[in-house]
Amino acid sequence: MDVSIDHKQYLEEINSFEPKSAEELEAFRLKFLGNKGIIKQLFADFKTVPNDQKKDYGQLVNEIKNAAESKLKEFQTKITSAKDSKQSSIDLTAPAYPIRFGSRHPIQIIKNKIIDIFHKIGYVVAEGPEIEDDWHNFTALNTPEDHPARDMQDTFYISDSEMLLRTHTSSVQIREMESQPPPIRIITPGRVYRNETISARAHCTFHQVEGLYIDEDVSFADLKQTLLYFAREMFGLNSQIRLRPSFFPFTEISAELDVSCFICDQKGCPVCKGTGWVEIMGCGMVDPAVLENCNINPDKYSGFAFGMGIERIAMLKYQIDDIRMFFENDIRFLQQFSTADQ
Ligand code: PHE
Repeated sequence: MDVSIDHKQYLEEINSFEPKSAEELEAFRLKFLGNKGIIKQLFADFKTVPNDQKKDYGQLVNEIKNAAESKLKEFQTKITSAKDSKQSSIDLTAPAYPIRFGSRHPIQIIKNKIIDIFHKIGYVVAEGPEIEDDWHNFTALNTPEDHPARDMQDTFYISDSEMLLRTHTSSVQIREMESQPPPIRIITPGRVYRNETISARAHCTFHQVEGLYIDEDVSFADLKQTLLYFAREMFGLNSQIRLRPSFFPFTEISAELDVSCFICDQKGCPVCKGTGWVEIMGCGMVDPAVLENCNINPDKYSGFAFGMGIERIAMLKYQIDDIRMFFENDIRFLQQFSTADQ
């Protein structure tokens, strides 16, 4: 029996083999090295080879086997490394190491805390549009056109329209009172806009939370107790509050709320400017005219409202002295606030 012809053909086929894909390589493997492959068969034929040729035959088959195996190995590594380099050259969007973890924005942390505090005493969140009409932002809030109180809030008007960017979230108060009968107990977090020159203390956009409670027999004492509860939850259980007379067109009586300085314990420091008190919000009893504008009977119902700037609370709590930091997205600033701090 002469096996040398097959041997040459096989070797030639193996050596000239150049797979273009992993599938072709697998077909090659099955053909030569598979369980039902040529080499298996050649070994099986071994017993039929005459004894004097067995040695040569064995050598030839081994040669074929080694050639097939090294071909397989060569292309297996080539194909996998081609896959790897294809991946790294294509995925240009893969982030560079080390990947930084994000953290919650300080405004969001304080907003969530305010919501949680009022949630515990039955307030629900209400939201409204940032692009408002004159009625909800001003007129219904007892601030008709030409009212001098409009000057308190420099407004961005949207040209060629009756619309404006809301200057406070008090507009949501009106929307809520228009859409449901009392009792109403809401807080309204949201972004507001004012045409202010940007400085360390003022920005043309910031965030507010307003609170509103309307029911029968709601008194100023209820407002005071609610705000004392808020101050203690927010700034510490030893906090004291004081109310100073103020003016807002939509509340009568109106007040401003100060909280005892939680930085220096009222000993006097730069945050409270040596006074021991820091101002945190405006508040008052909802003016009966505002209730009437929303078709709520002021003889039956009364209520209070309060409003605070989230940036102001965050600046006090974290001792940040420049409001612009909140909007610059400087990662070194943002990383200082951990979510665990909530
Ligand atoms: N809307 C007022 C402001 O933006 C705050 C306020 C709300 C005052 C509710 C009294 C009652 O300054």
